[in-house]
Amino acid sequence: MIDLHFTGQGRDLEQLKAVLRHLKNEKKFMFVGCSKGDEIIDFQKESSRKGLSYFGIDHHPQTVELANKNKYLSHTKVVVANILEKDFLKDVKKKTGFSKFDVVVCRNLLIYYDELCAIEIIEKLAKMTKRFLVLGISDPFWFAVENNMIKIGERSFEVLDFDNKIFRKLEKTETDPMKRHDHFLAVDLGNKKLMRTCCSGCTADMFELKTKEPVCEECREIIRETD
Ligand SMILES: C[S@@+](CC[C@H](N)C(=O)[O-])C[C@H]1O[C@@H](n2cnc3c(N)ncnc32)[C@H](O)[C@@H]1O
Repeated sequence: MIDLHFTGQGRDLEQLKAVLRHLKNEKKFMFVGCSKGDEIIDFQKESSRKGLSYFGIDHHPQTVELANKNKYLSHTKVVVANILEKDFLKDVKKKTGFSKFDVVVCRNLLIYYDELCAIEIIEKLAKMTKRFLVLGISDPFWFAVENNMIKIGERSFEVLDFDNKIFRKLEKTETDPMKRHDHFLAVDLGNKKLMRTCCSGCTADMFELKTKEPVCEECREIIRETD
């Protein structure tokens, strides 16, 4: 694998400014594949907000050493970790004290990997993200956007800004349009058998009606009656 650690201040600065425009109360920022930390310095310079904490990760020890020597990053914790390692998430928790961050930025790292590795990486990033996930403008992107949403692993993300690759993780309590099923209830009055089907592929497609409000046995949503 070719790994250039290429970075520099001012790189895709407009994208970082776009991220800042979406922020509300986010406090913890993680930069994965941060190299020697130039993008973190850029972000900190652009942000006028106080009380934020910054973290960075790179698998290359020499670049992490450079980041940790940089006086502009004296309040930023930059650690060595490899996102492709099996225990990456545990490693991050051990080294930073946290397993989740409000905003996870991972720019220009995916460009080095094939699709399989990249999907593994994005799924780990999604797990670390509490609110916003930001990928690099030039990073490959294979996700199908549906209803302005993309699905990463188990969770859905709203596409806030496609050009700037800024995604918002949906809260578990938020209605997830990617998970919403259309249910159908068909009643065969002739032989008094009730037939329910759930179009999402749930298996509860034929059983007797026991409650007034039938609930899909797979996804626990109320099945509405259709004509
Ligand atoms: C092109 S640089 C991007 C630096 C910065 N994010 C930017 O956009 O300017 C990619 C960085 O990702 C790091 N990297 C590549 N693979 C990695 C991995 N598996 N785990 C952690 N860091 C990785 C490299 O060491 C390198 O510093």
